[in-house]
Amino acid sequence: MRIRQEPGLTFDDVLLVPQRSPVASRQDVDTSTRFSRHITLHIPIVSSNMDTVTEARMAIAMARAGGIGVIHRFLPAARQAAEVTRVKRAESFIVEDPFTLPPEATVAFARAELANRGIGGVVIVDGERRPVGILTTRDVLFAPEATQPVSLVMTPRERLVTAPQGISLEQARALLHQHRIEKLPLLDVQGRLAGLITAQDIVKLAQHPHASKDAKGRLRVAAAVGVRADEMERAQMLVAAGADALVVDIAHGHSDHTIEMVRRIRRELGDIELVAGNVATAQGVRDLAEAGVDAVKVGVGPGSICITRIVAGSGVPQLTAIAECAEAARQFDLPIIADGGIRTSGDIVKALAAGAASVMLGSLLAGTEESPGATVIREGQKVKVTRGMASLGATMGRELAERGEDTFDQDWEKVVPEGVEAVVPYRGAVAEVLEQLVGGLRSGLSYCGARNIAEMQARAEFIQMTPAGMRESGPHDVKPL
Ligand code: XMP
Repeated sequence: MRIRQEPGLTFDDVLLVPQRSPVASRQDVDTSTRFSRHITLHIPIVSSNMDTVTEARMAIAMARAGGIGVIHRFLPAARQAAEVTRVKRAESFIVEDPFTLPPEATVAFARAELANRGIGGVVIVDGERRPVGILTTRDVLFAPEATQPVSLVMTPRERLVTAPQGISLEQARALLHQHRIEKLPLLDVQGRLAGLITAQDIVKLAQHPHASKDAKGRLRVAAAVGVRADEMERAQMLVAAGADALVVDIAHGHSDHTIEMVRRIRRELGDIELVAGNVATAQGVRDLAEAGVDAVKVGVGPGSICITRIVAGSGVPQLTAIAECAEAARQFDLPIIADGGIRTSGDIVKALAAGAASVMLGSLLAGTEESPGATVIREGQKVKVTRGMASLGATMGRELAERGEDTFDQDWEKVVPEGVEAVVPYRGAVAEVLEQLVGGLRSGLSYCGARNIAEMQARAEFIQMTPAGMRESGPHDVKPL
């Protein structure tokens, strides 16, 4: 037996000592960082791969704000890949492989497809992919005959404005304006559909100047995979759908299973950006680094909905885990993602100062408009549900989805949950939450006398806190309004 003498520390155990600052305005600091070896972010925030946090809507909002989302893996592989596709299609100058329908498709079918895919229009093509018309949500919104073919309500070929493949952004903008249209199908030399430009996407380009984008101008998105044998197929589907990174994610990431999965993905999928975790020790980082990852996710048990430390008695307080893992990662030039336990912008500053390149947020984002699931009213308050991915509810949901009705007879008492289900206050749009968090981070950088995250990491000096210091740190001796 070995007992470490140094106490493990977490966010509330420390403060950052203020330092002389060259920063005149919070706007002068640079919050950019790396998510993984080859993916940079404008803000160091990642949304968690939990089923109450990240699906396409969240990932789109995260990437627009300059962060990134990791689509969770607790849904069938094809559906997870569809979420990735949705993000990749959400915003690019050109939709390369636009969704199409044949002229004989019914209005009802088209209406449902537009809604399911979250798109505002579809090009109608013949058997050789030559456009014969275009159909927008307005064409089907109040169409009285749902069984009619779309050819009767679409804008027909004669009135369709198209452009050749290879058109520039400026030329496209001019055509859209000249014809007062919102969608511009692109044709190859044979007159077949080769892409689609939408006015909305051009507007969005300007609205989100710091968005996380790939080389083709599409929003970036990561997606989680597990370590079971059939997860390789999931990984292949996610990469085919355009995922920018795979995140091999299991609760105890420092395991033979994880290392084997990392090696297998490297072998079979080449140089896909690969993140793995979660670990809480330097050795965990080294083993994953040697297996070939591009970033390591750190955190065993700090999460708001985690009970791993209570159930399994295992974990490392998060600030110590980050510091030790970051130190080990430096030698491999690997970014660390601090995952779990972040409640405030102050915690983000501390995690980054301790060496993390980015932070992963779960419950802090679970209450936003863009997280999966509806809001409910509890005691007069609007709330959203969040849950640990190892909670009883999440485990039951997974089993039911995978094995159907048979699982009703299952002996659920044998499940040992390592997470809880809870509600969090509804917080509105994720962009607004991120703005507050990044504002706090900018302020934190300035207090550390740093113009960017690397400078803060080099200069950071932590001071340990007593419970009295902690009490002094929050509002005290006043009545909250
Ligand atoms: P926060 O504090 O941001 O933490 O809500 C989110 C992270 O918690 C992890 N997670 C779990 N950990 N049991 C655990 O021990 C669980 O059921 C569970 N579900 C999620 C995960 O790393 C997530 O990003």
